[in-house]
Amino acid sequence: MSVPSLSHYTDIDILTSEQFWGLLKLAKQLKDEWTQTGRNEPILAGKALAMIFEKPSLRTRVSFEMGMQHLGGYGLYLSPAEIGLGTRESPADVIRVLSGYVDGVMARVFAHRYIEEMVAWGSVPIINGLSDYSHPCQALADVFTIWEQLGSVEDKTLVYVGDGANNVATSLLMAAGKVGLNVRVVAPRGYVPSPEVLAASEVEVDITDDLSGVRGADVLYTDVWISMGDEDERQERMAVFPPYQINSQLAQRVENENVLVMHCLPAHRGEEISDAVADGERSVLFPQAHNRLHAQKAILAHLLGGVRLPS
Ligand code: CP
Ligand code: NVA
Repeated sequence: MSVPSLSHYTDIDILTSEQFWGLLKLAKQLKDEWTQTGRNEPILAGKALAMIFEKPSLRTRVSFEMGMQHLGGYGLYLSPAEIGLGTRESPADVIRVLSGYVDGVMARVFAHRYIEEMVAWGSVPIINGLSDYSHPCQALADVFTIWEQLGSVEDKTLVYVGDGANNVATSLLMAAGKVGLNVRVVAPRGYVPSPEVLAASEVEVDITDDLSGVRGADVLYTDVWISMGDEDERQERMAVFPPYQINSQLAQRVENENVLVMHCLPAHRGEEISDAVADGERSVLFPQAHNRLHAQKAILAHLLGGVRLPS
């Protein structure tokens, strides 16, 4: 039986476990093809992706644009000033216009409801390239990286240290539930996943503010303490987060010399992660960033190219 196709990739909780695994397997096929032959089949020839950005980006912008190019298609970058999403023009109007020009839209937005409005009004696949709520493209690449590095994900334990309420943490929790990855969140009070996110994650999540919670981790994961859009909270956040820095001392408390250290990047080195750990021998920060390319290709090949999800 084939795996049912997706219409959009806006959040991981709307996928079944087999759909999420389908994307992981497709990412592996496309990565293997790329690394073994130096090219991919042009399955997106004649297809175009519009990429709307309300916020800055390195990885998301470049991996989507190069992903389109490697698959024979075209990625069109639209800067924050050009579109004026919600100011110059409503998301509903923008997406109805774009639906007549391109074959898919990837959007990085402040308000998650803009993603939902585009799904409601558009007639092409919508991809969430990060919102204030979630970052599902990142979590796909992250689970792919854990799978690649550890050989399996089921029953491994990921400990997320830092802002457990942010977009990256939210999508990781949702992804964990799809693949049977155990998750512990080590975060200051007030920065933990919401009850809604915990319910959507379909996974038992241990939550603690005690740093001894890192013990036994297979993966130690962190992200910035101040996400894009949270800059006005800098003072209050910097008052509570510094003990949660992933540094050599905290890494020792894991008591697993094979632990993988992950960060979605960009890193604020000296805040949530020290240079010694970010550049240390357990760090997979750059393979993780590079896997964004392969994860993006899987989403694009499926949504824009009609490539079936492997079972
Ligand atoms: N991790 C990530 O999404 O990076 P960018 O903000 O540079 O796209
Ligand atoms: N939580 C971060 C992730 C950046 C990729 C942010 O939203 O700024």
